[in-house]
Amino acid sequence: MKNKLIDHPDIESILINQEQIAEKVTELGEQITNDYQGLKPIVIPILKGAAIFSTDLLRAMSIDVDLDYIDVSSYNGTTSTHDIKINRDIDIDVTNRDVILIDEIIDTGFTLEWASKFLLGKGAKSVKTAVFVDKSEKRENNFSPDYVGFQVPDKFIVGYGMDFNQRFRHLPVIAIIKTNK
Ligand code: IMP
Ligand code: MG
Repeated sequence: MKNKLIDHPDIESILINQEQIAEKVTELGEQITNDYQGLKPIVIPILKGAAIFSTDLLRAMSIDVDLDYIDVSSYNGTTSTHDIKINRDIDIDVTNRDVILIDEIIDTGFTLEWASKFLLGKGAKSVKTAVFVDKSEKRENNFSPDYVGFQVPDKFIVGYGMDFNQRFRHLPVIAIIKTNK
């Protein structure tokens, strides 16, 4: 059944539909499965945004994993700030473990760069990063994620975990929002 939220007047247009999302998640899951054969990585989604993408991605991965979550914030309204605050730390021991950090979007790159260093600092053996969408035009560092679903334009987008002031996170598509309201 169609989610009627898609027709909300604040939604400008759909950028990535449900079929495209499903197909890409399957592809990324297969890639990760191939790369981690015989290993048991710790998967760490970054809350809250990665909560939705990570549940799909995990179910597309046919390898054994451990799962933990980290909640950091660096973001207010439609502009990124560079201050990163840990709201919830991991409680699993990452020492000598392979870690896959998941976020739904990379924008300036500060969140993932910071989180990767943070986990390496805690003794992780390796840290790879998976994002569903990459707004690479906005990058302010040299960070490039290991697994990327789609490149997206420099527009404010919502859905599939992404919010605009906490709204529209659960939209089943990725849509451009009218931010001038
Ligand atoms: P970065 O640290 O600038 O790479 O920002 C990553 C975080 O910014 C993401 O986890 C999102 O929470 C947020 N973000 C960046 N662009 C958007 C967007 O277009 N829509 C919603 N959230 C965004
Ligand atoms: Mg986020």
